This record gives sequence, C-alpha cells and structure tokens, in this order.
Amino acid sequence: MRQKLAAGNWKMNGTGAALAELEALIQTQSAAKSEILICPPATLLSRAADIASESNLSLGGQDCHAASSGAHTGDLSAQMLKEAGATSVILGHSERRADHNETSETVAAKAAAAWGAGLTAIVCLGETLAEREAGDTLQIIGAQFATSLPDGATAKNTVIAYEPVWAIGTGKVPSLAQIAEVHDFLRAELSTRFGAEMAATTRLLYGGSVKPGNASDIFTTSNVDGALVGGASLKAEDFSPIIAALDAS
Ligand code: PGA
Repeated sequence: MRQKLAAGNWKMNGTGAALAELEALIQTQSAAKSEILICPPATLLSRAADIASESNLSLGGQDCHAASSGAHTGDLSAQMLKEAGATSVILGHSERRADHNETSETVAAKAAAAWGAGLTAIVCLGETLAEREAGDTLQIIGAQFATSLPDGATAKNTVIAYEPVWAIGTGKVPSLAQIAEVHDFLRAELSTRFGAEMAATTRLLYGGSVKPGNASDIFTTSNVDGALVGGASLKAEDFSPIIAALDAS
C-alpha cells in the first residue's frame, strides 16, 4: 500500500567526482523494490539526471524558495529544480530551520511552491534534545505538523520525515519505542486532518544517524516507511545495505 522509500540527503557534500557513487548505486540497486531517491547539491542535479535517466533512481533538491522567480540572490525555485531533474524536494530540514531561520510558516509556503511545480515535498519535523527532555516532543511535532503542511497535502505530493534534531549526524538514535511513538502519532494526525485514506497511503520516514548497522531494526518499527539518510548516503557501499534492509522489512 505504501512503497518504501530510501532517501539520501547529501547536504553540502559532493562535486563531480561524487557522481561515481550514483553510478555504483544504480548498478547495485537496479532490482530494488524500494523507491530510491538521492538529493545531491543542486549543482549536480542536471548531470545526476543524465546518469539516472534509464534507472530506478530519482533525484531531489534540498530546499527551494517559495516564489517562482524574482530578486532572491542565491535561491532556487521549485521549477528550476524540476527542470534540472528533481522529482522531490526536502523542505524544513532542521539545518535550514536553524541556519536560515526557517519557520514552519516558511516551510508551508515552500511546500505549496513545490506542489505547484509538480514536486513531492519531503517535509521534515523534529524536536531538539531540550524539548525531548522537557517532555514536549509530541507537542512540538504536532505544532510543526500543523503549520508546516498546507491544506492540499496528498500521499502523492507529500512525504513526512521525522528527524529528531539531536539524532542528526550525532550517531545517537532514539529507542525504537520513541520512534514508534512519534510515527504512530503522525499517522493519527494525518488521519484527523486529511482523512483515513490519505493517512494510510502517505509515507513516513525516520531520519537521524541511520546506518547499515541499525537500519533493519528501525525499518521494523511501527509506521516507519523508509529513511532519510545523511552521512550514510554519500557512499554507495553504505547506502546499499540500508536499501537492502528496507527491501527486506
Ligand atoms: P544523518 O543525517 O543520517 O547524517 O544523521 C540525516 C539528515 O539530516 O537527514
């Protein structure tokens, strides 16, 4: 009912030499059952799209502007990403929220722009360690969910990624019970707001220090439909076993 999704976020890593990793991934994963998505730096999208054109690998951006064009030095529109070969775009990553002061309202405007260009919005939500330790996790996730997603979200145009801020790039991972609690909560929130069918068909990814060694356990957790992977998506030899674990789950 929900196709599993292994999404890689290269962040600000990779020049042309990194395209060899895409070629290796395509070679080893041509029979994968899961959907495979790589979000490289935007400078690599066009060349990556040429490499991936006959393959089961799709490509995404890491951010877009809410406007379709204009005087926004350094920014990229959703249409530009689409034309360069993206089918999706990551929005509201905690590094964007922290480094660029993005609010959930900004993220919602960007999601609407992504949909307008025909891109799937991968909307990231997550609590800080202080918020978790204060017992506020579900309240924070609920507020981010309510504001970051515009009306009109569907299973096709939206993927949600739960990424605890304290687990990103740290090697720390929540317990499986903690992951399940948030994913079950998000499935219920989707149902309340968008209806049972949308909730049953929308993919929920976990992200934050997913590695070959912990992927199988994470993928057997309730309501986890895949992963958004940072560091371990940079090398095909690390990402491939994660995809294999997802296929097997
Ligand atoms: P990480 O990053 O896998 O390196 O922790 C995940 C992310 O930021 O999406």
